Amino acid sequence: MVCVFSPKPLCGTVRVPGDKSISHRTLILAALAEGRSVIRGLGNGADVGSTMAAVRSLGTTVTITETWPRPVAVIDSPGRAGLSEPGDTIDAGNSGTTARLVAGVAAGLPFATVITGDASLRRRPMGRVTEPLAAMGARISGRCRGQSLPLTIDGGRLRGIDWTLPVASAQVKSALILAALGAAGTSRLTEPRPTRDHTERLLPVFGGELGLSAATVVVPGGQTLRPAEVNVPGDPSSAAFFLTAAAATPGAEVLAEGIALNPGRVAFLEVLSEMGAEVEVRAVGDGYEPYGDVRVRPGRHGLRGVAITAERVPSIIDELPVLAVAACLARGRTVITGAGELRHKESDRLEGTAALLRLIGAEVEVAGDGLLIEGGMTAGPDGQGLPAGGRVAGDAAGAPLAAAYDCRGDHRLAMAAAVAACVTGRRLGIAGAGCVAISYPGFWRDLGSLGAESVEWPAQPADE
Ligand code: S3P
Repeated sequence: MVCVFSPKPLCGTVRVPGDKSISHRTLILAALAEGRSVIRGLGNGADVGSTMAAVRSLGTTVTITETWPRPVAVIDSPGRAGLSEPGDTIDAGNSGTTARLVAGVAAGLPFATVITGDASLRRRPMGRVTEPLAAMGARISGRCRGQSLPLTIDGGRLRGIDWTLPVASAQVKSALILAALGAAGTSRLTEPRPTRDHTERLLPVFGGELGLSAATVVVPGGQTLRPAEVNVPGDPSSAAFFLTAAAATPGAEVLAEGIALNPGRVAFLEVLSEMGAEVEVRAVGDGYEPYGDVRVRPGRHGLRGVAITAERVPSIIDELPVLAVAACLARGRTVITGAGELRHKESDRLEGTAALLRLIGAEVEVAGDGLLIEGGMTAGPDGQGLPAGGRVAGDAAGAPLAAAYDCRGDHRLAMAAAVAACVTGRRLGIAGAGCVAISYPGFWRDLGSLGAESVEWPAQPADE
């Protein structure tokens, strides 16, 4: 168990690792392109490692040539036509993006690919990708009639498809775009609500083509990609933990440098600003993805509750747990609706978030596919709030825990719990906290650089 405690409001500058969603996609597109691609700033979490291992098992070579300050990956690929049958099962670990995007690629390859994952991933729904891939011509079998991992995908010549996604999911959309690239004929993929468009933005960088018309992505089949050099900006979903903590604590101020500013990813900044936080965005560059620096401070009047409805959910899906933590400290009620997809993430994040909020003393109700959160909690162990600029007495190792949270092996719940500790000034134990490495291995170090403490608890005895 890790005990987290922040004796003062978080302050400082962070540079988070490369964006996880963009990293998965660059590795996969590089594997489909014949020749050498170079990715700078690749994400360093275990999920990205799963995609790296998957593209290696399909016959590419991936070499990490530099690790500091930003990892650089060189991918040598024989191209889609030269990929070969994996000698073993592809293990996507905890990564839904790996499982679903690799399924999309495998559907178009003329051999059998077997994909599995850890216990959490084996519980997550795969029918949303296997059904349309089967309709395109792939033969797919697996648990629960092909709806759950492990899956065997016997791919080959696919036909284009006209498909309306029943759920707003960028993973499903991307899996189908990847399959459609090699299919015979044009595919039309329509989403019920806009989701992150990293695949659409990256495809032209690798020489691919697609059309966009309203909610439909039009993908011509029979495409050949060419290798590319890509810079991956920082991951806004990782920065969101520190930025949200800053929004909720008087006296805090955090600057996140060089993060992706894709509108499908930074809607949480609009939410923080609507809640009353001061959010400053400075765009630095705009290649295939906009990126820049973001500074957040609490507003002069603190936070107020907010209503979040279904239309907005896909663009803040990974930030909802930490936004819910901030909502506990806001004036008034926060109402989140249309967030049923949270139940299908690495854990049931509706229940997991509600459990965290209850643990820190907030009033919360899971209402159907959403949450009702009564704000008004005061921060600080004595209910007086974290002193702006001052310190709360004690340290992470020194005193009994206020409470312990089981993060259910879910990286985003573990980091949301760390934020809950920081903004309330409580000593919170987080069981299973090592899972932050799924997206952000350096999380505890970076949280420490902003002023919070995290220690193994109970403290490990020193070696004799
Ligand atoms: C992702 C899309 C989202 C998100 C996940 C990463 C992606 O999932 O929750 O962390 O990279 O496409 P869904 O598209 O299934 O909602």
